[in-house]
Amino acid sequence: MRAMVYRGPYRIRVEEKDVPRIEHPNDAIVRVTLAAICGSDLHLYHGMMPDTRIGTTFGHEFIGVVEEVGSSVQRLKRGDRVMVPFNVYCGSCYFCARGLYSNCHNVNPNATAVGGIYGYSHTTGGYDGGQAEYVRVPFADVGPQIIPDWMADDDAVLLTDALATGYFAAQLGDIVESDTVVVFGAGPVGLYAARSAWLMGAGRVIVIDHLEYRLAKAREFAYAETVNFAELDDVVLEMKRQTDYLGADVVIDAAGAEADGSLLQQVTSAKLKLQGGSPTALNWAIDSVRKGGTVSVAGAYGPVFSAVKFGDAMNKGLTLRMNQTPVKRQWPRLFEHIQQGYFRPSDIVTHRIPLEHIADGYHIFSAKLDDCIKVLVQPGA
Ligand SMILES: NC(=O)c1ccc[n+]([C@@H]2O[C@H](COP(=O)([O-])OP(=O)(O)OC[C@H]3O[C@@H](n4cnc5c(N)ncnc54)[C@H](O)[C@@H]3O)[C@@H](O)[C@H]2O)c1
Ligand SMILES: [Zn+2]
Ligand SMILES: [Zn+2]
Repeated sequence: MRAMVYRGPYRIRVEEKDVPRIEHPNDAIVRVTLAAICGSDLHLYHGMMPDTRIGTTFGHEFIGVVEEVGSSVQRLKRGDRVMVPFNVYCGSCYFCARGLYSNCHNVNPNATAVGGIYGYSHTTGGYDGGQAEYVRVPFADVGPQIIPDWMADDDAVLLTDALATGYFAAQLGDIVESDTVVVFGAGPVGLYAARSAWLMGAGRVIVIDHLEYRLAKAREFAYAETVNFAELDDVVLEMKRQTDYLGADVVIDAAGAEADGSLLQQVTSAKLKLQGGSPTALNWAIDSVRKGGTVSVAGAYGPVFSAVKFGDAMNKGLTLRMNQTPVKRQWPRLFEHIQQGYFRPSDIVTHRIPLEHIADGYHIFSAKLDDCIKVLVQPGA
């Protein structure tokens, strides 16, 4: 089969690989019909995540058709059209039983902090991902769900991570009616978080980025006010100004490990690898939220510690909430919102790339060229 293969930082190819086989009676093999590239894939592409091994296939956002099932799979059969959450999880351990699917205790032999994620380095289990023609899906009765007839493929693939994550980030903010919600990052996750904040009762939503075309999308898709941090000396001061000098009620970090805005943070993280990511947006979040407020972190960070302003968070009495998204938990409400027409997730898709040209997709998304927001990948195109 054809599959995206990692050959080192900034080097991606499409190569011939063996079609995955059933390795356990609970496995399914899924023929991928549509995949996507996530901001998290960029952290891998840039060589930011430890133990990203040469030869692995990325891709944790994908949908497809069931090709084959193991002998104990009961809920799926060959031919089913399925969406697969980015988490690999068992569904029955202590953590899964509490809905913490992204923290499953049974699927990642390499770390205990995080569970399994498709195509996201050996620190999350070393599972090959879905930017390929076929993918092996463990615990096939647990994660995957048959795509409802009314749901478009583009929307289904976005539900496997980006949309669920934006929604989850807003949920973790514990938004109450009329709250002012600030979102750092106008990528797919930030755009969805901003849009979701309204559904949870926000009275005001402000999105911050330095890419003007993405801020335009935040105004149009998420009905948000926007702030370009590159035009300001001090974005935190501006946030204070805009909130009666109290700070926002809820601030969401949807930028993550490769945030811009501080040369020192960038050099010590991306270049010197002294930190598990540059927490510039996270520190701005801690500074911009009001005392007693909540900071929700959707942005991903590596396992090495980062220079986060913890003392300020402590002294301000903040609530910090975060996780890799337990994707399937968000689906019932999101299905309702989409079916009732509250929004169309695919409105943020800007690029469709055949799998054979996925390296171009990574390059365009990484360098933020051609007004890129979200790239879908089509195997067999
Ligand atoms: N928690 C999860 O389960 C989960 C799931 C998906 C993605 N993520 C993470 O969410 C983050 C965003 O993902 P995405 O797909 O939207 O990525 P993206 O790269 O498209 O978007 C990130 C945006 O942040 C902006 N940005 C950079 N520095 C900033 C700063 N200091 N302040 C404000 N904005 C800044 C960038 O210009 C960019 O528009 C990534 O870190 C990704 O790994 C986490
Ligand atoms: Zn992702
Ligand atoms: Zn589990």
